[in-house]
Amino acid sequence: MNLDIRNNTLYFGGINTVELAKKYNTPLYIIDEGILTDKIRDLKENFLNKYDNVKVLYASKAFLNTAICKIIKKEGIGLDVVSKGELYTALNANMNADDIIFHGNNKSIDELKMAIDNNISRIIVDSMDELEDIIYLTNKLKKTTNIMFRITPDVRGKTHDYISTGQKDSKFGIPLESIIQACKIAIDSEYINLKGLHFHTGSQLFSNESHLKALRVAFSIIEDLKDETKYTIEELNVGGGFGVFYSDDDTEMDFTHFTDEIMELCEELAKKINIKRPKIMIEPGRWIISKAGITLYEIGNIKDIKGIRKYASVDGGITDNIRPALYNASYTCMISNKADEESIEKVTICGKCCESGDVIIKDAKLPKIEKGDILTVFSTGAYNESMSSNYNKLLRPAVVMLKDSKDYLIKRREELKDLVSRDLVPEFLQNI
Ligand SMILES: Cc1ncc(COP(=O)(O)O)c(C=O)c1O
Repeated sequence: MNLDIRNNTLYFGGINTVELAKKYNTPLYIIDEGILTDKIRDLKENFLNKYDNVKVLYASKAFLNTAICKIIKKEGIGLDVVSKGELYTALNANMNADDIIFHGNNKSIDELKMAIDNNISRIIVDSMDELEDIIYLTNKLKKTTNIMFRITPDVRGKTHDYISTGQKDSKFGIPLESIIQACKIAIDSEYINLKGLHFHTGSQLFSNESHLKALRVAFSIIEDLKDETKYTIEELNVGGGFGVFYSDDDTEMDFTHFTDEIMELCEELAKKINIKRPKIMIEPGRWIISKAGITLYEIGNIKDIKGIRKYASVDGGITDNIRPALYNASYTCMISNKADEESIEKVTICGKCCESGDVIIKDAKLPKIEKGDILTVFSTGAYNESMSSNYNKLLRPAVVMLKDSKDYLIKRREELKDLVSRDLVPEFLQNI
């Protein structure tokens, strides 16, 4: 994880975390460029260079910022976006439209138009309503657009309910009973080029079971469509969701644990229905960036409720990491300035927001904790900054990138004036 301990102090990416906290203040997100690019290179070695006709798209919802986009571009992989904002960030960072696909279960007309105008490589159509909108827009603009259909494969990923997406009762995707009809409409539409199918069964998965089950569902659709229309699907996007280590509850697998069997099954199923194996796309988010990130906090007030629990408050909370409150996500941590000291007490790390659920880690085992200590929480690269908020008017943290033992600010800390920068005062309140 690019961690080491020198003089009882935690170093990340070769840099003293206590010094980083002093230099940039806390809470502070840190992304190690070395870990991030190693993860991408692992994908290249074990997937992109291993198989023909495959593509990786980083799920940018995990964490997107201009510098991150530039790394994605430099490393030559693609990007999945789900909103106008993510698309804008990507295009603004000079990401090629050819390398971007556009997801989302409720894209607005504006968002679809932005995708079509900018020649985004694939729009992943999530519903029949959206298909109608795209037909309307492409006919009006007389512009051909490549689409894929997201299916709801009726497969439940083994994960928290809030991050399971492939089950029948899901807001995402086109139900199986409508998918052939959707494909036929797309095939018959003058300005739509149907490229393929997509599924994403859930996130933080440690078994490839749901991917494999969903693959069988996708291939049976491909077969039915071929039988009924002679149309052959060329591409299959099998989503992301590859699980990573956050805490001892998680057993992280090699990437090949997922992809080798996916690829093997694709070959087998394609052969069975007598088609060329479609281009296989994957969209990992957390797998690429979670471990590259840590968050630094300063410990504030400590409350020891004898016989019940010891709480240590940090200077952030659900505003910079909502995942524990949202779906019980677990994390590990260390006191940066006591990195060599024995863990002697159980401490619950809580945030400073006005919610009892504002807990980052329950019962962490730590050395004696004191006000002023710097706490490092690990594996916060994915879905922390991207889900951050201004609840209680807290200021969103800065983001620092580490590379070759040097630190670079890639997003400045919010300032108080940012909090009111969008406020407007109506005329009737102006003299108050
Ligand atoms: C469609 C889609 N693709 C990819 C991902 C990335 O998931 P993960 O970060 O678990 O790999 C998500 C996550 O929500 C998703 O909804």
